[in-house]
Amino acid sequence: MNLNHPLGQLRALETADGSLSLHSDHFDEAFHSSAGALEEAEAKFVRPAELGRFSQASELKLLDVCFGLGYNSAAVMRSLPQTSAPRLQWWGLELDQRPLEWALNHPPFCDLWPGAVLQRLAGLQQSGRWHDCGGQGTMLWGDARQNLKALPSNSQLDLILLDAFSPGCCPQLWSEEFLGALASRLAPGGRLLTYCRAAAVRSSLRRAGLTLRSLLTTGGQRREWSSGTLAVKPVITTPFAAEGPGWTSLSAMEEEHLNTRASVPYRDPKGIDEARIIQQRREREQQSCDLESTSSWQRRWLIDQSPRHGSDITWA
Ligand SMILES: C[S@@+](CC[C@H](N)C(=O)[O-])C[C@H]1O[C@@H](n2cnc3c(N)ncnc32)[C@H](O)[C@@H]1O
Repeated sequence: MNLNHPLGQLRALETADGSLSLHSDHFDEAFHSSAGALEEAEAKFVRPAELGRFSQASELKLLDVCFGLGYNSAAVMRSLPQTSAPRLQWWGLELDQRPLEWALNHPPFCDLWPGAVLQRLAGLQQSGRWHDCGGQGTMLWGDARQNLKALPSNSQLDLILLDAFSPGCCPQLWSEEFLGALASRLAPGGRLLTYCRAAAVRSSLRRAGLTLRSLLTTGGQRREWSSGTLAVKPVITTPFAAEGPGWTSLSAMEEEHLNTRASVPYRDPKGIDEARIIQQRREREQQSCDLESTSSWQRRWLIDQSPRHGSDITWA
């Protein structure tokens, strides 16, 4: 695939559960955990979303940030309650049209989804839209930072699926400002779900007024201290459960992580800076702050810092 694209060359990967993924040369990162694209969609997005909650609701408003091949949204659509299904109002933010095009040309990917879900994906590829008796969807192709502004200001989202490349290589989509803008779009009780457990990201989400929970590891993944974050906009009258399907409260270790230099946020005040500028700004702030060093926190808790997208990957 085209080298002159923001994502550079894309290469096919096979993940441990047999589902297909891609690797971006420019970001030097895989789109999914090596445990499996489908496994990740189910464990980190579908399960903690608790879609059964919406069977009585008239509408479910969902934003998929970094749609990629579409696993997360397709898995949610496939799992929505069959009876009394809510009407789905869907938006997607994605820079590159190639992953969806690539996915829809691969029969093993298409075989995963019911016909109605595939039709929606095909609609997004052809016209950036889908519309059927179950709802409607719009894809906003381009930089998520700019296109988020095109969402109706009163969108009051029930779910945000945030699946950007990791903060180390794509800090643009983990900045204090971008996360704050996402948080402001959530309805009371609305949930933001992400595989990311970085202290900078969690701290920004907390400062944006969200309540944090830690996603649990699952059988298919290597043992890690957390496999992501659920952030919920509080409902004043109903405290959010400490535990639920696939999540639990932050441990003492995770809370202490938020007091280390790792918690210094990524800042992108105008929403236009390149990754390098955002990284340099953060490094300067880390050097001048008096927070505990993250390595001493790691030593105290004997932490093995495994990357999200490990090297145990099979190139397809
Ligand atoms: C980790 S992958 C997402 C995987 C995806 N959720 C899936 O199920 O296949 C990250 C995605 O972010 C997109 N991306 C990178 N920078 C972006 C930006 N500034 N705005 C919108 N999308 C971006 C990439 O094109 C890529 O598809």
